[in-house]
Amino acid sequence: MVETQHCTRAGGWARDAAGMQGRDDDVVLSLDGVTHVFETEAAPVRAVDDVSAAFRRGTWTAIMGPSGSGKSTLLYCAAGLIRATAGRILLDGVDVRAASERRLTALRRQRLGFVFQDFNLVPALTAEQNVGLPARFDGRPAADEAVRGALERVGLGDKLRSRPDALSGGQRQRVAIARALLARPAVVIADEPTGALDSRSGEVVLRELTTLTAEGSAVVMVTHDPVVAAHADRTLFLIDGRLVDEVAGGSPATIAGTLADLDTRA
Ligand SMILES: Nc1ncnc2c1ncn2[C@@H]1O[C@H](COP(=O)(O)OP(=O)(O)OP(=O)(O)O)[C@@H](O)[C@H]1O
Ligand SMILES: [Mg+2]
Repeated sequence: MVETQHCTRAGGWARDAAGMQGRDDDVVLSLDGVTHVFETEAAPVRAVDDVSAAFRRGTWTAIMGPSGSGKSTLLYCAAGLIRATAGRILLDGVDVRAASERRLTALRRQRLGFVFQDFNLVPALTAEQNVGLPARFDGRPAADEAVRGALERVGLGDKLRSRPDALSGGQRQRVAIARALLARPAVVIADEPTGALDSRSGEVVLRELTTLTAEGSAVVMVTHDPVVAAHADRTLFLIDGRLVDEVAGGSPATIAGTLADLDTRA
């Protein structure tokens, strides 16, 4: 099992003889031997292959790997959007593979923040309504000012009433970040959250992911950019669905170097 190797912003960490080690009750997402095989008309595709990793409160993990290495599939499995073929996924104490659809829907609403470009917002609702939606579902509607504040923080104060089809991909992603900021979920799952953004908007997103981490969320982020990954506490590397390496607190150069080495191992 891949464990985070170093101390991060969040409190509640214990040091032992082996170095910095998080407490097990800080683990909010754990993957144990997670495998997913897509059955296709041609050959089956083993998109995720026996991945084990633990994600703790207040930590930020980047996931990197070549296109098609299974990064998105892994995130979808973790969130229960795809039922993994094998393995065990515990999200905030819930066994994701065994949970009913109803339980999963409630879990995602209450404990998960999504920042996905394809799976994001409700098309019929405005940015404001989308940001306020999880709290509304929970019967604890957020104050209008809080919703507006979250959208302003990601630079969308002028798009409150826009519906997703009137927003760019990057703006839609920032609405999803605002929604996560308001909900303060246990786990934030982000698939290339800066991929569609210019550098300034990208900085805004990274700043807000830093805030979410500092507030105690476990952030799990896929990125192709070593500079973006370097903001995380550690980077996990996938090849052909397998977790093959981990770099803790690496610089962009270290991360880029590890990524380049992956090609020689593929
Ligand atoms: N619905 C599907 N049916 C069959 N195969 C799929 C399906 N979705 C993904 N795959 C395959 O699973 C593998 C992993 O895909 P995935 O989207 O997880 O990769 P990725 O690492 O996110 O790639 P990228 O960096 O391009 O986003 C690929 O070989 C892909 O073709
Ligand atoms: Mg992907």
